[in-house]
Amino acid sequence: MMFLDQLNDYLNAGFSGIWIQTSEPNEVVQDIVQRQQTTPDWEPLRVWDVAKGLGHEGQCKGDPLAPLQVLLDARNEKTDQGHEKALLLALLNYHRFLANPVVVQQLQNVILHGKSARKFVLVLSPILAIPVELEKLFVVLDHPLPCTESLQRIAAELLADESSTAHPVDPGILEAATGLTRYEAEGAFALSLARHNSIEPGVLWELKAQMLKKNGLLELHRGQERFADLGGMEALKTFCTKALAPRAAGPAARGILLLGVPGTGKSAFAKALGNEVQRPTLTLDIGSCFGSLVGETEGKIRQALKTADAMAPAILYIDEIEKALSGVGGNGDSGVSTRLFGTVLTWLNDHASDVFVIATCNDISKLPPEFSRAERWDGVFFLDMPTDIEKNAIWGIYLRQFGQADSGIRAIGNAIPPDKGWTGAEIKSCCRLAALLDVPLADAAQHVVPVAQTASDKVAALRDWASGRCLSATKPGVYQSQQNHAPKTRRAIQR
Ligand SMILES: Nc1ncnc2c1ncn2[C@@H]1O[C@H](COP(=O)(O)OP(=O)(O)OP(=O)(O)O)[C@@H](O)[C@H]1O
Ligand SMILES: [Mg+2]
Repeated sequence: MMFLDQLNDYLNAGFSGIWIQTSEPNEVVQDIVQRQQTTPDWEPLRVWDVAKGLGHEGQCKGDPLAPLQVLLDARNEKTDQGHEKALLLALLNYHRFLANPVVVQQLQNVILHGKSARKFVLVLSPILAIPVELEKLFVVLDHPLPCTESLQRIAAELLADESSTAHPVDPGILEAATGLTRYEAEGAFALSLARHNSIEPGVLWELKAQMLKKNGLLELHRGQERFADLGGMEALKTFCTKALAPRAAGPAARGILLLGVPGTGKSAFAKALGNEVQRPTLTLDIGSCFGSLVGETEGKIRQALKTADAMAPAILYIDEIEKALSGVGGNGDSGVSTRLFGTVLTWLNDHASDVFVIATCNDISKLPPEFSRAERWDGVFFLDMPTDIEKNAIWGIYLRQFGQADSGIRAIGNAIPPDKGWTGAEIKSCCRLAALLDVPLADAAQHVVPVAQTASDKVAALRDWASGRCLSATKPGVYQSQQNHAPKTRRAIQR
């Protein structure tokens, strides 16, 4: 098992401080105890928590310093070959005691001493909150969320309790339960059984959406948007459909970065993608994740990425990724931003799970250059102002959508107002206004102020930057900025 192998590597390499981020400390303890039976050079795991103390006698109850002293004083037994066995001390929820300078100092002493003495401190905590004095002394390990087989076992056990006949567990149920902890999954299964007498994926999705919200960074998006509701972007649509087509072997798609002019449908595309390729979409709210503590933010991000891993195959949608770097007020926290980005970048590069990242960005100047480097992504796409053909398609979509009622839109026939410099967002708002105010499109157009006008410098700079660097969302190949757009005349559109 991945986690235990990693732990074993760290122990062999002599890392005597190991911070294990987990919401399921008992599972971690159980995993280690099981592994120990096959690993003769580990001594039995000692577990301390403040309420129960150490071991059966409840030694050191209520005193966070005492278990450290026990470890310092302990003598390692020897293996048959005469090697010293590893002494492992697990401290549950020990982050609670790290505000005490004496505890921090003693922990430092123990870890430094433990390196040569083969004594290891494992801090089991749901958050990552390592005091600066100890930062260099700890390696961090994530305990993974339960795999499909574990969830299967939990569901099967509950179902067996309910009736004497064995039920096979539906794959849809397991899919809905991924990303939950064992405890949460058990609760969700039980709730569904109580409500419906069976395990219903609908109940699980509902609970999962709630549980994801508790993290504060992740939200489950389960919308009905389709590619067909978006005009243009043909190259981008084709690329994603192909990259995410189910296949038996070969590399999994990693993700794409969407850059572009505001209102060109970057967010709308990202939201439609999951539904289109039948994968759940997790939205990572990276802009709001600046907690008061560095460790808190970083821990939350790690937790969010872990959940995404567990939910594979999934889509991870990071909107306006540059916001993470501007942070709170845009200054004074560059250290936090950099570390946070480091965490995300490392995950982007290294994650082996089938999680496809779709990130959007409006302001490339705020991103560190290494983030937009092409090899990090399967594609970096630029969404320019829509072409005439694309605009026609977008008009068609929104005239249909808002023209259902007997409104002004119908009355004016096929005539559409001049739309030079308009994005999809402006076409949409024009159609919406016409329907709302019950006026012809030309009148509604008076109320539309295109972004290309209000921020023309920015748009020009963005185009320049993207030219030759990004892929075009419109047609296959590299985007080339065209400065001279053909003058617009009134066009008729097909409905
Ligand atoms: N090509 C398009 N086809 C259909 N609708 C579009 C298109 N482009 C934009 N829209 C609509 O315009 C609105 C704004 O789009 P969206 O929020 O996706 O833009 P964005 O590129 O994410 O903008 P921002 O950079 O400001 O976040 C949405 O309601 C979206 O549906
Ligand atoms: Mg957006």
